[in-house]
Amino acid sequence: MSMTSTTIYRQDYQPYPFVIERVELHFSLEPECTTVINTMQIRTSHAGALLVLNGEDIELKTILLNGQAVAYEYKDNLLTLQPEVTNFELKIVSMCNPKTNSTLMGLYVSGQSFFTQCEAEGFRRITFFPDRPDVMSEYFVTIEADKAQYPYLLSNGNLLSTRELDNGRHEAKWHDPFLKPCYLFALVAGDFDIREKTSKTRSGREVLLQVYSDKGNGDQTLWALDSLERSMFWDEQRFGLELDLDRFMIVAVRDFNMGAMENKGLNIFNAAYVLADPEIASDANYMGIESVVGHEYFHNWTGNRVTCQDWFQLSLKEGLTVFRDQEFSADMMARFLSEEAAKSARAVKRIDDVTRLRVSQFPEDAGPMAHPIRPDSYQEIGNFYTATVYEKGAEVIRMQHTLLGEAGFRAGMDEYFRRHDGQAVTCDDFVNAMEFVYQQQNPGKDLSIFRRWYSQAGTPTVHVQMDYDHAQQTCAITLRQHCDKVGVEKLRTDFEKKPFHIPFHIGMLTTQGQAIPLNVKDLSDIRVTENGGALLELTEIEKTWVFSHIPERPVLSLLRDFSAPVYVDYDYSFEELATLCAHDSNPFARWEAAQELSSREILRLTADILAKRPLSLSPIVQEVWAHNLTDPHLDAAYRAWLLALPSEKVLVERLDSITPLALHQARQFVYKTLAKEHRDLWLRTYQGNHSQKEYSPDPISMGQRSLKNMALNYLLVIQDEEGIALAKGQYETAKNMTDRMGALSALMYYAPAEDSEIYSQAFYRYFEHNPLVMDKWFALKAMSVKRVDQLRELMQNPLFTLRNPNRARAVLFQFCMNNTEAFHHESGEAYAFWAEQVIALDTINPEIAARFARVMDNWQRYAEPNKGFMQKALQTVAQCPTLSKNTTEIVGKALS
Ligand code: PHE
Ligand code: ZN
Repeated sequence: MSMTSTTIYRQDYQPYPFVIERVELHFSLEPECTTVINTMQIRTSHAGALLVLNGEDIELKTILLNGQAVAYEYKDNLLTLQPEVTNFELKIVSMCNPKTNSTLMGLYVSGQSFFTQCEAEGFRRITFFPDRPDVMSEYFVTIEADKAQYPYLLSNGNLLSTRELDNGRHEAKWHDPFLKPCYLFALVAGDFDIREKTSKTRSGREVLLQVYSDKGNGDQTLWALDSLERSMFWDEQRFGLELDLDRFMIVAVRDFNMGAMENKGLNIFNAAYVLADPEIASDANYMGIESVVGHEYFHNWTGNRVTCQDWFQLSLKEGLTVFRDQEFSADMMARFLSEEAAKSARAVKRIDDVTRLRVSQFPEDAGPMAHPIRPDSYQEIGNFYTATVYEKGAEVIRMQHTLLGEAGFRAGMDEYFRRHDGQAVTCDDFVNAMEFVYQQQNPGKDLSIFRRWYSQAGTPTVHVQMDYDHAQQTCAITLRQHCDKVGVEKLRTDFEKKPFHIPFHIGMLTTQGQAIPLNVKDLSDIRVTENGGALLELTEIEKTWVFSHIPERPVLSLLRDFSAPVYVDYDYSFEELATLCAHDSNPFARWEAAQELSSREILRLTADILAKRPLSLSPIVQEVWAHNLTDPHLDAAYRAWLLALPSEKVLVERLDSITPLALHQARQFVYKTLAKEHRDLWLRTYQGNHSQKEYSPDPISMGQRSLKNMALNYLLVIQDEEGIALAKGQYETAKNMTDRMGALSALMYYAPAEDSEIYSQAFYRYFEHNPLVMDKWFALKAMSVKRVDQLRELMQNPLFTLRNPNRARAVLFQFCMNNTEAFHHESGEAYAFWAEQVIALDTINPEIAARFARVMDNWQRYAEPNKGFMQKALQTVAQCPTLSKNTTEIVGKALS
């Protein structure tokens, strides 16, 4: 591990001076000493150019150029030679130790099997190679291993042959016909259960779809396999993109740093995103599996067929693929439903995605790690698999979809593949293809201002002003945008922040809640949308649109469907918000109004707590909640979102000086007051949605379960006796994990200690042997302990380990991110604990440690005494002499 941190800049990009046409890899697998023979066919038109190969934590054995010894230099993880010929074969033999590789990058052992992870820079831990995405080659792979222990030997593409060898060993040969960068290479060896099915692509080709899992788990892979086939059909229908291989494999692994990886034809998945049956997996798990299976499958075109020129372009594949998986999930939720129900189901998905963005990306954009979706510099690329690159990246794609419309966007995608299939390209190349279509639609306009979303960071605020003229019956809407410099932008004096191109979707309502259709005949930069709304395009700092025929002072419905990743600042009255909460025909905006209303209350109450004023909840909020509990037109899933309070993580972003405990207390006060006031409605809602029918992960019954469990929590937060009895009953008769966890978490948070302990232990004993379910248990414990010493006790449990990322996340991340009272305890003890655990984790797995380190990102915005304690904890980590490059970058930026 190196402690020197060098910064890499996007503008320094240089094409690689060699072409590696063909790579032949021979693996002789042994857990503690694997030999890799790498034979490359290389050519160049730059005679005398230096050939630089990456290599890390591997032992160089021999190196031959056209069969001859050759001079080379090997230092600082770089192997350099200067070939005198322009067309040659380079053969390198090296060794590595997969068994002791706890970083889970490169080749590693998990359980009894071998796996690889190469993105972003793991291939260099397998063999010497130009480990960068713009070097694309054809791969031939031979794997040789003990047959009894490793009956399955897998790699990318098509299986060419297998044969028996001496000493109980065997061999398999694979060939991937598509050129690919090395980060898409994969190898798996072990013994597995397989579930498979043959399917037909749209053009009638037969393809084999397979899911591999640990022995004994094969009965939990049906949902993943079906999700894979649905993904395949969806990409054909919506984008005209067909699977290009004869065989597509998914392999589940227990130890994995991320969700999953899109290796060509051989996706490797965190088992948490593969295994499911109703007993062990919740509704959220089912949805997560479908979306991640879709995501990785969609990468086959957006990522693999067209890949990234360099890692600064990561959002080219990730933002686009997240957008695609979001649309896939929305389409899956909406299918089979009536038009009205489908609209609601899509809104639920949109609310879910926007919430994720606000919880994880908005804080990032306001902190020391802020970066544009296409960063300009990094120290460690592993730190840039961020909510900004992924989630905000998807929003930037979605805005292009909004500007071009579905048909236009599809034409832009077709153009993108027509231009770039088989290439390693940039975000600009993508926008160029979209702009080509945009200009046909809008002669004289272009996407040059839009491109600033790729080069500028930060979340803009759009200030809205309305001027209504009763005599003229006109309404003027003025939008003014503002965005401060953030992150590294602040250090660049030459950098001037420019306005963004913001598609801003609005509607108008009468005070009675009726839609006022917008007349947009004479206005420029504007388009009518459903329900008489309009899409405004703000491309400068400020602009005013005047609407005519507006019969009364309207209630504004703003940023419908969250048409841009911005904050909205508008001086709503409580009455206006209440009107929107009850009547807005745009379900997203209606939900937003409820969020805004309760946010304002919680923030006001936070101030009241700090000032030691008496607390009381506004009657308007209570009425809105009562209305949304009883409005007969709402389906359960959407109703649950309307009744949910904004999370502390979202609210924190609206505080100038963060006082976590006061905020938590204020939110709990609102929660409890709404519970008390509407106790009977919550009970009726529970009863009306609880059922014992057979489990199915469809949107209707998932919605009922989520509403029911929400009602249960409202009852338990006030320790309602009947509620507690219902929770116990639900736990005891539960036939699926959603019901079981819903009851258990409510009991563990709110029931008297003796009660919660009984159920916690019952759950533990029942699921002790299922690691994925144990992660849920550990997470619940970590989120509900009162002090750090209880967490330390939990970490003494024999099932706890820091080496498994899922387990570390369940305990450490959940504690620090979702246990406000214990983590932000006034003693500062939990911050010191955090520092200690970052350092421990860093010696095992720097990628995970660096992610965990980001918990402190926004320490500077906390009030004292928290702020001082947090700074001290960060300094403790920064002073650790052996800190990895990954964690060094994070704490360095936090402290700068
Ligand atoms: N490329 C993967 C995805 O988003 C994520 C990933 C990155 C997985 C790095 C492992 C390591 O689909
Ligand atoms: Zn991805």
